[in-house]
Amino acid sequence: PPGGGMESMVRKNASGYRIVLFPAPFQGHINPMFHLACLLHSRGFSITILHTNFNSPDPTNYPNYHFVSVPGGLTTSTDDVVALILSLNANYEAPFRAQMSRMRSERSGEPIACVVVDALLYSVQAVAKQLGLPTLVLRTGSAASFYMFAAFPLLWKRGYLPIQDSRLEVQVNELAPLRVRDLLRVEQSNPQKLRQLIEQVVEEARTSSAIIINTFVAIEGNELEKVREELSVPVFPIGPLHKLSPKTESSLMDQDHSCLDWLDKKHPRSVLYVSFGSLASMDGKELAEAAWGLANCQQPFLWVLRPGSIRGSAQIELPQGFEEETRGRGKIVKWAPQQQVLAHPAVGGFWTHNGWNSTVESMSEGIPMLCKPYFSDQMGNARYVSEVWKVGIQLENGLERGEIKSAIKRLMTEKEGDEMKRRARDLKEKAAQCVRKEGSSQVALDRLVDYVLSL
Ligand code: UDX
Repeated sequence: PPGGGMESMVRKNASGYRIVLFPAPFQGHINPMFHLACLLHSRGFSITILHTNFNSPDPTNYPNYHFVSVPGGLTTSTDDVVALILSLNANYEAPFRAQMSRMRSERSGEPIACVVVDALLYSVQAVAKQLGLPTLVLRTGSAASFYMFAAFPLLWKRGYLPIQDSRLEVQVNELAPLRVRDLLRVEQSNPQKLRQLIEQVVEEARTSSAIIINTFVAIEGNELEKVREELSVPVFPIGPLHKLSPKTESSLMDQDHSCLDWLDKKHPRSVLYVSFGSLASMDGKELAEAAWGLANCQQPFLWVLRPGSIRGSAQIELPQGFEEETRGRGKIVKWAPQQQVLAHPAVGGFWTHNGWNSTVESMSEGIPMLCKPYFSDQMGNARYVSEVWKVGIQLENGLERGEIKSAIKRLMTEKEGDEMKRRARDLKEKAAQCVRKEGSSQVALDRLVDYVLSL
């Protein structure tokens, strides 16, 4: 095996053990959990994936894994993300307990080394601990955002939270360079409920055996230290996960690969890739502004318009004249093979909502960003991209065609954009170093395997 003596020793030991992984049922949480599963499998562990009966992964893509459906369901609409996550925790606690008890009695020959549960599923973690199982938490967002979670009681005490519109520009000195507007925000959600959710997430992580974060030391060294100090549990920065693990097939929607052929015909670094992830949505007016921003900028673009991503309309209706204006220069798909798109030489910029996966995937390929965050941790991620790593421009004033056009120009064709490209290339190199043999993420993975076997 690669890595020599130590590796083969670990592999031999791990091969008698099973790891049970339970992702939160959202695309941005499923992808990193599958990358982690793949890495642990390559180190010799047997893998069981627990999943909900909605947004279920396709088991045929993973003949070597064991899949277990946990019955539960949801008692709320998916519009209110906070209520949705609270309901997931309420509904999956008892079924998870029943499934784990059943699995343990059935699979008595192969001991469970640990369970790895998404940070959002705190009630599942609590059950796993009650059952005496070592419980590790996977945080699919950044270390900075997790530290913000941990700071929630302080942020409430000092009046930064709940967010007030009159205080959006106030600097949060305790979490520089964040402003109040960059703090965790979920529109349409009750701030008290959000607080309750975040505090439970942090409390369960505090009593877990370890936290795995999809990040790397070169970009979040300080933030990782703060998380370690605050939570006093082992923290393993193992990222970018998709660069450590082989390609996985965990997309919930079919990826349209025709866009890769289309990209093949474009000049190097000329195309702006546009995608807002699996959950963010815009209204009809924002769609029109985005469309005209793209049409007027004269830059080739590849735009992911996910079905259902326009609020209040089942169909996606682009403005009249848009198609003629952008023929040959623009391509629209429903869902793209994003990691491959970002790695394609024709792509020179990414207009993103700054979900953490998209942010890390962009950095790993050295692609500078145009940032338009929507909710949750995305505002904080965008702030780090533009102010800390300086590899992106943030659209701060909503969507307006003139501002979009000029921001795209700045990013794709002007000196300012060249500087960002240079820094983005540096980040790509740093990410590559972290996943190389002896790199910090590779070392963290080795340590994680040893640690799990020691539990
Ligand atoms: C959500 C939250 O929005 C995000 O803030 C949080 O950090 C994680 O959960 P999502 O909005 O879907 O995730 O965004 P993101 O984290 O970027 O994950 C999207 C994933 O879908 C990425 O891995 C991306 O590669 C993939 N994707 C996206 C595709 O495969 N095809 C696409 O067309 C678009």
